Amino acid sequence: MDIKKVGVIGAGQMGNGIAHVLALAGYDVVLNDISPEALETAMLLIDSNLERQVSREKITEKARQDTLNRIETTIKLPDLGQTDLVIEAATERESVKTAIFEDLVPHLRPHTILTSNTSSISITRLASRTDRPEKFMGFHFMNPVPVMQLVELIRGIATDEDTYNSCQTVVEKLEKTGASAEDFPGFIVNRILMPMINEAVYTLYEGVGSVSSIDSSLRLGANHPMGPLELADFIGLDTCLAIMNVLHDGLADTKYRPCPLLTKYVEAGWLGRKTQRGFYDYTQDPPKPTR
Ligand code: CAA
Repeated sequence: MDIKKVGVIGAGQMGNGIAHVLALAGYDVVLNDISPEALETAMLLIDSNLERQVSREKITEKARQDTLNRIETTIKLPDLGQTDLVIEAATERESVKTAIFEDLVPHLRPHTILTSNTSSISITRLASRTDRPEKFMGFHFMNPVPVMQLVELIRGIATDEDTYNSCQTVVEKLEKTGASAEDFPGFIVNRILMPMINEAVYTLYEGVGSVSSIDSSLRLGANHPMGPLELADFIGLDTCLAIMNVLHDGLADTKYRPCPLLTKYVEAGWLGRKTQRGFYDYTQDPPKPTR
């Protein structure tokens, strides 16, 4: 199927990055959020991230303008009715996502492919709440979207081959790489990444190392671009905990138990960069390790 127009639901960290890369690749994009302020902030962020790419000579000024012109914003879900593909990147809560799909589906054309950027919710279960489980799949981008090369493509149990192939073609047009994953808790990236982050929190909790020594060990000893605790702050400690709980519940193995220190940070509201405090204090420049 020839995909020309793409709807993106949710203008947060992931949604604005997804709209950015789609429009830059030439797709017409309809970006939707319930909050007009979130849409305004997203457009400013897309503009500044495009500007950063212009200043590093990754794209031209004309490409920046064309990209911005290809993005239309709306607070009304029915405005996504004429799209060929929808990527949902709303709040990572199943009830929110299913309510959105239920509201959206009556406005869609029969051929439209529905996808979710969920990092941990079952694709098969989300699909079953729509009128088109065979045209539903997971389309999971990594953060920051304009920089990270990978997109996980997750088939639900009912996803058909045409749907998968159409999504794979979009990934190629974005000049990214798709990795096929089956619909099991955490898919591939989070099944492997989150236990590593959780183990780093245990390493801190048990006093084996400080925040700085744990992060420099992995940065300098394993060539990771960020240490695991810095990365946890970047992803959001609430998100890390939620994904660990999905692995623990879904795979029923104690090796996935979330570290009590991670739970405590989330209970304290120390969620990482977005709240200015996590394993680092971001009110300091450079950010100061808290343990
Ligand atoms: N938009 C556009 N460009 C951006 C950008 C953005 N939002 N953020 C960074 N960049 C660009 C910069 O302009 C820079 O470009 P050049 O290479 O041309 O100089 C490049 O990316 C590197 O950025 P910086 O120099 O500012 O910073 P850095 O070298 O420290 O890299 C980083 C930053 C790319 C985030 C790097 O630290 C990194 O790769 N970290 C790991 C990120 C990661 O693991 N993400 C996955 C998280 S897991 C996930 O997302 C799945 C989930 O479900 C939780």
